[in-house]
Amino acid sequence: MSQYVITGGRRLEGELQIDGSKNAVLPIIAATLLNEDITYINNCPKILDVKIMIEILEQLGCHIEWQEQTLVIDTRHLSNYILNESLVKKMRSSIILLGALMGRCGEAQISQPGGCQLGARPINLHLEALKKMNVDISEVEGIIHCKTLHLQGAKINLKFPSVGATENIMLAAAKGEGVTIIYNAAREPEIVDLQDFLVSCGAKVEGAGTSTILIQGVTRLSGTTYQVIPDRIIAGTYLTAAAMTRGTIILNDVRNEHLVTMTEKLEMMGCQIIHEKNRVILSSPKVLKGINIITEPHPGFPTDMQSQMMALLCTCQGSTFIKENLFEARFKIVDELNKMGAAIKIKDCTAYIEGEKALHGETICAKDLRGGAALVLAGLVAEGCTIVKQIEHIERGYQNIILDLSKLGAHIQERK
Ligand code: UD1
Repeated sequence: MSQYVITGGRRLEGELQIDGSKNAVLPIIAATLLNEDITYINNCPKILDVKIMIEILEQLGCHIEWQEQTLVIDTRHLSNYILNESLVKKMRSSIILLGALMGRCGEAQISQPGGCQLGARPINLHLEALKKMNVDISEVEGIIHCKTLHLQGAKINLKFPSVGATENIMLAAAKGEGVTIIYNAAREPEIVDLQDFLVSCGAKVEGAGTSTILIQGVTRLSGTTYQVIPDRIIAGTYLTAAAMTRGTIILNDVRNEHLVTMTEKLEMMGCQIIHEKNRVILSSPKVLKGINIITEPHPGFPTDMQSQMMALLCTCQGSTFIKENLFEARFKIVDELNKMGAAIKIKDCTAYIEGEKALHGETICAKDLRGGAALVLAGLVAEGCTIVKQIEHIERGYQNIILDLSKLGAHIQERK
């Protein structure tokens, strides 16, 4: 099993490009099922989750190839609507294929994706929405079967602005009959990117980025060439890494408007941030002051940046807390950080963090994607050598973490 070996203590300094967004590209790949054509996705990240999504689509009969950083997807010869159970279990977000398959075939079968590293992750909102769109749903021993003869537009009021449920409804409704309106829709930038992609295929969608999305179903979509947005969470992770080592970083190819919720917090901690066109520059002073963080759906502070922030807060002045409002089991790195010398206590959904802790190297385990990245950040400032195990979690979402951090001067290697 591969591991990352990090020798801490190097101040990061330098410049990086930011790759395409994982959370944007996964629903876009699912959306290609709707167009029965050839799609070119530029700036597609070569991460594990994308590879799993490709395998799932290939099992459905699609033909897919890489042309450098462009993913070429031919969905003309789809021959199956049953999603492979072991692949679905590997990647929970495969649930977004349900909406796309309903739009394409009117029928889909998927196993319950079940719980995962972040705790119970129900799919009730996805299924309730599809039922409103005239989909019959049955479940036998964890296998969900969905079928409709007329996918019907509907008014859907989400109880919670779920990202995945919003995407699933958009995908199904794009080829449904009539109008679908989603109230209390998720407003994340990845939802806007999905709308932009669908529109470039000929769909009629508007309102993404606000709480109300309106979709007028069409009978035919066509292939397109599309450039996926840069990954705001990778950008946030590297900004935090630079702050962690009290360094300086320039990130190119970013969308500043996607970063504001994170850069505002880093500024409050004392970092200097300069936003330029498609780039952001962060310089950190030697002393940073801690602040409290509460995770919320967009435009609140993203849960996907909470673990990285926790690692940073261990090194800042003062006692702080992080309240996690989205996922029940997103504090798995606390034990690992405490092993490294942090002092963090959890009560209910809040972590209380004592600042100004000198971290030391340890052998620690990545237990989820963002938590794993946060442990790498901790390793960058820990005294001595840190070994991060189970790095496959990290590789689900970071294409080049070793190369990127090495370019900035970190001492990090992969040991096979
Ligand atoms: C997406 C992101 C993930 C991010 C999360 C929240 C992708 C591939 N993943 O995940 O990185 O952390 O948004 O920003 O884009 N819920 C229900 N019932 C449902 C659906 C969700 O109760 O049917 C709950 C979940 O348990 C969770 C909350 O809603 O507590 C948010 O989940 P959701 O927004 O759906 O996240 P994902 O789409 O799974």
